Amino acid sequence: MTTNAIAAKNPPELPGPKGLPLLGVSIRLVRDSLEVLRSVAREYGDIVRIPVIMGTRILLNHPDYIQQVLVFQPTKFHKSKLSKEATERLLGQGLLISEGDFWRRQRRLAQPAFHRQRINEYSSTMLACAHAQMRGWGDGETRNLAQEMMELTLEAAVRTLFGTTLPGEAQHVGRAMTFLMRYSLSRARKPIQIPANWPTPKNRRANREYEFLDSLVYRIIAERKAQPGSNHRNDLLSLLMGAMDEDGSQMTPKQLRDETMTLFLAGHETTAITLSWTWYLLGQNPTVEARLQEELRSVLAGRPPEIADLARLPYLHAVINEVLRLYPPAYILARVAIAPFRIGEYDFPAGETVLLSQWVMHRDPRYYDDPDAFRPERWLDGLADRLPPGAYFPFGDGPRRCIGQGFAMLESAVVIATIAQRFRFRPVPGRTAVPEPLVTLRPKHGIWMTLHSV
Ligand code: HEM
Repeated sequence: MTTNAIAAKNPPELPGPKGLPLLGVSIRLVRDSLEVLRSVAREYGDIVRIPVIMGTRILLNHPDYIQQVLVFQPTKFHKSKLSKEATERLLGQGLLISEGDFWRRQRRLAQPAFHRQRINEYSSTMLACAHAQMRGWGDGETRNLAQEMMELTLEAAVRTLFGTTLPGEAQHVGRAMTFLMRYSLSRARKPIQIPANWPTPKNRRANREYEFLDSLVYRIIAERKAQPGSNHRNDLLSLLMGAMDEDGSQMTPKQLRDETMTLFLAGHETTAITLSWTWYLLGQNPTVEARLQEELRSVLAGRPPEIADLARLPYLHAVINEVLRLYPPAYILARVAIAPFRIGEYDFPAGETVLLSQWVMHRDPRYYDDPDAFRPERWLDGLADRLPPGAYFPFGDGPRRCIGQGFAMLESAVVIATIAQRFRFRPVPGRTAVPEPLVTLRPKHGIWMTLHSV
C-alpha cells in the first residue's frame, strides 16, 4: 500500500453545510449563490461538500486544488452536463463544450486564428465600433451602459467573425443569439420541459432563429468557397476555413458553423460585461478614474489608441485586471469527473461534480488585501507574479483556458481608452448595480450612468 493510499480520506468526511433534507442548500443557492459560495468557503475551508437537490457539489477554494483540476488532471474531467445540454443545439460541437480528441483537433485548428498578430488586426474594427457607439451620446444624458456595451461588442463580434459583408444583418444576428441563449437556458433549468418540437410561440421563434443563423453561416461559407482567394480575408470565419490539420484535413461546414456560433457567444457577452463593470467601478472611484484619465492624456494626448500605445498604458491594464478580479464574467467553472481523482488528502470517485469559483478565489483575503476594494494599483507592483497560480483565473487555466483572452484584453483596452477620453460616467442615485450570477455575471438591472463630456 502506498503512503498516499494510507493518507487518503473518504469524501463523506468532507466539511460542509447541512442544508435541508433532500434539497440541501439549493434554495439558498438559487436566492443568493454569490454570498452562499463565499460564506461556505469562509466557514468550511479549502474543500467543501455542498449538498444540493439529488446530490452534492465539491467546492474547491485553494489555488493548488484549482490547478489540480484545470492544469494537472484535466483529462479526468469533463465540462458539466447542464451547460452542455443548455447550449448543445446552439453551439453543436463547438470548442466551448466539445471534449477529448475532437476538442483537441478543433482547438489545434482554431488556435492560429487567435495569434496575437492576427488579433491585433482587429483593433481598428474595435476602435470603429467604440466610435460608432458614442455617436449620439450627449453631455448630461443617462444611459444603460450595460446595454450600450452589449451592442458595441456584438457589432465588433459580427464584424471580426464575418467581415463586413452583412449590412443590416448584424443586429438580427445579435437578437437571434440573445433570444436563443435565454431560450436554451430557461429550458435547461426547468425540471419538466415542453418538447422543443411542439409549436408553442417560443419554440416556433427558436426554430426560425436557428434557421436564420444556420443559413447565414452556411451561406457565407459557400460564398467564401466560391470566391477564389477568399481565404486571404482576415475575418475569423475565413481563418477557420483556411485552417488545415497536419493530415491536410479541414473543418467541415458543420464544424465551421459550430465554432462560429461558439466564438460569437463566448466572446461578445463576456467582454461587454467586463466593460460595463469597468464604467461602474470607475464612476464610483473618481480617484482611480482621474489617474486613468491622466495616463491616457499623457500617452495618447487625445488621439485614438494604436497597438504600440497599449504597452505604454500600464494603469489601464491594471484597471482591467482589477475589474476581472472583482466581477469575473465567468464567476464559476463546473467539471464532472470521468475518472477517480484525488484532491489534497481526499480521494473521489468518477461522477463527482467539482466547482471552482473565480468569485470566491478573487476575493480571498489570503491573497488580496482589502479584497472587496477596487484598487487597480495592487497590480502595478508585481502582484501577478507573486500570486500562486490558481488564485486569479478570469480566463480559466490549463488546456481549456480561454482561446479569446488576447482578443478580449485588446478589445477592452481599445474601447476603454477610446471612450474614457471622451466621457466620464457617474452612477444614477438609487440605481445600484447588482451582479446576477447566471451563466455569466451580468449586472441585474443594467448599469445606469449619467454621461459627462471630458
Ligand atoms: C473578458 C472576456 C472573457 C472572459 C472573462 C472569458 C472567460 C473564459 C473562461 C473562464 C473560459 C474557460 C471555461 C472553462 O474552462 O470551462 C473560456 C473559454 C473560452 N472562451 Fe472565453 N472569455 C472571454 C472572452 C472570449 C472571447 C472574446 C472569445 C472569442 C473571440 C472567447 C472564446 C472562448 C472559447 C472558444 C472558449 C473555449 C476554449 C476551449 O475550451 O478550448 N472568450 N473563456
